[in-house]
Amino acid sequence: MKLNAEQVRYLTEDDFRVLKMLETASKRQEIVPVKTVAAMAKIRPGQTNKILTGLSVMNLVSRHQGCTEDGFKFGYGAADYLALHTLSRKHGLVGVGRQIGVGKESDIYVVETEGGPAVLKLYRLGRTSFRTVKTNRGYLKKSTRETPSWIDLSTLAAEKEFAGMQLLHREGFPVPRPLAQNRHSVLMELIDGTLLNNIAEIESPETLLEKLGAILRKFEENGLVHGDFNEFNILVDENAEPVIIDFPQMIPLTHPEARFQLERDRNCLVSFFRRRFGLSL
Ligand SMILES: Nc1ncnc2c1ncn2[C@@H]1O[C@H](COP(=O)(O)OP(=O)(O)OP(=O)(O)O)[C@@H](O)[C@H]1O
Ligand SMILES: [Mg+2]
Repeated sequence: MKLNAEQVRYLTEDDFRVLKMLETASKRQEIVPVKTVAAMAKIRPGQTNKILTGLSVMNLVSRHQGCTEDGFKFGYGAADYLALHTLSRKHGLVGVGRQIGVGKESDIYVVETEGGPAVLKLYRLGRTSFRTVKTNRGYLKKSTRETPSWIDLSTLAAEKEFAGMQLLHREGFPVPRPLAQNRHSVLMELIDGTLLNNIAEIESPETLLEKLGAILRKFEENGLVHGDFNEFNILVDENAEPVIIDFPQMIPLTHPEARFQLERDRNCLVSFFRRRFGLSL
């Protein structure tokens, strides 16, 4: 799923209204009949159908044929549009630049804001068929549908990551400054650094490992476990200072899995340093 920031500019107020209503109705049913959207948006069904058809041509929504009438499905394209719309109206987002990351579960873009460059993380849960994620992360309870949509789960992941990032930033952890969150997206500070996994050589790997060990202990002191503390979620800046990213899986130390995850975070890190930099630990 590519982010199309360009077409966002050409949508009208009615397009926007129809999309918002489709989003709301989608919380209850996966495929929403045109007449439901029309009633909610207070736009005639014929006109609503025309608008939805236009949006489907832009790949923002998709049409699904039913036996009595057609319906439309809200997807990541539409969610991206609504998130960008809100971020630009309320949080100073000005433009979307190049994509810097394609994760298993997210797309990462460099964006321009009124305050300078930043990073936009758009969650894409469900993109890979990682079926256990819904139960793994304990998201099921919060949804109003019998099975929550992937977009709803992505929104929960973004909310969780943003809240976690705010907490960590407040407590003085080296994390990107959280700027805003909307729907399935998180806007944050752009870190000028290199992913630890992409570093072949470093002046003092011992010092870096010590710093990372101290961060792990700080998590523990704050009653938290990162849960995915590895070379793919650690950026190293030009002063060899680590910055930690990616927190949707953070759990409290009281969680039954916490001790296990803490041990795993620690072991992964040490074995990476051993492998990559030849530390004898
Ligand atoms: N604030 C940031 N500043 C600079 N680069 C970033 C930032 N956030 C993310 N990135 C880049 O985007 C990549 C993916 O980010 P992140 O780990 O948050 O997403 P993810 O979906 O978990 O990806 P993965 O599945 O690869 O771990 C990172 O490895 C990093 O290179
Ligand atoms: Mg990651």
